[in-house]
Amino acid sequence: MNITLTHTISDLRQQLQNQTETESLRLLAEVFPGEVAFSSSLGYEDQVITDLILANNLPIRIFTLDTGRLFEETYKTLQRTNNRYDAKLEVIFPKHEAVEKLLNEKGPYSFYESVENRKECCYVRKVEPLNRALKGVKIWITGIRAEQSANRTQMEAVEWDESYQLFKFHPLLNWNFEQVKTYVKTNNIPYNPLHDKGFVSIGCAPCTRAIREGEDFRAGRWWWEDESKKECGLHSPQTPDGGLNTVLKEI
Ligand code: ADX
Ligand code: SF4
Repeated sequence: MNITLTHTISDLRQQLQNQTETESLRLLAEVFPGEVAFSSSLGYEDQVITDLILANNLPIRIFTLDTGRLFEETYKTLQRTNNRYDAKLEVIFPKHEAVEKLLNEKGPYSFYESVENRKECCYVRKVEPLNRALKGVKIWITGIRAEQSANRTQMEAVEWDESYQLFKFHPLLNWNFEQVKTYVKTNNIPYNPLHDKGFVSIGCAPCTRAIREGEDFRAGRWWWEDESKKECGLHSPQTPDGGLNTVLKEI
């Protein structure tokens, strides 16, 4: 494909607007060689994007943040994904000194005690590793969908992330849950079996529960906290103090 992109957000938006998800990913990989990375939590949406990338041999890095507290089912999904595509998804692990310090000072369940403690754990296990994973990246692909939360309905498929100084691209932003499920089923893509047990958004095991009928998509994440505090810092700026001094963009 012979398209030259000027790297401004409006040009990017315009160039991608009439492309399919696969064409958009291919175009970005061509224009930003070696600088496009997809972060996968191995959830439904992310499995669709992994399939788009690997089934089409797109030169896009795929990494997952292994917090050390994931569900057994999530690790099995990782293994099945590697087997299916004869690939090895890149795994990023937290710094062991930081995890040891946290566990030794506060114990293994400090996150239930306060929002600050929870954000501290998310910082050590997710945000700092994400910072490392995004070094040198110009385009960060995510599986975010508008339907997932009120804040996500305000998002655009291409965004500028001020804190990471890169563009984010959410190829499935306007997909609904049925479309995601159908794609996974039709293409026989390995998925996390917890999705069949009422788990919609799947994060760390101690911080994720199944949702009940009528509850919103993210009700099963950090369910003991106020809606307004439900922020892990992956998609918003956060500091080790729990991000209290930063502007929270994402719920
Ligand atoms: S979170 O901010 O609440 O944790 P959510 O689970 O909704 O995020 O996932 C949104 C997107 O964030 C995913 O599609 C994926 O791109 C990224 N993401 C979330 N968790 C991980 C993870 N453990 N590893 C890599 N990427 C992740
Ligand atoms: Fe820690 Fe829970 Fe955040 Fe996972 S989701 S990093 S276990 S606080």
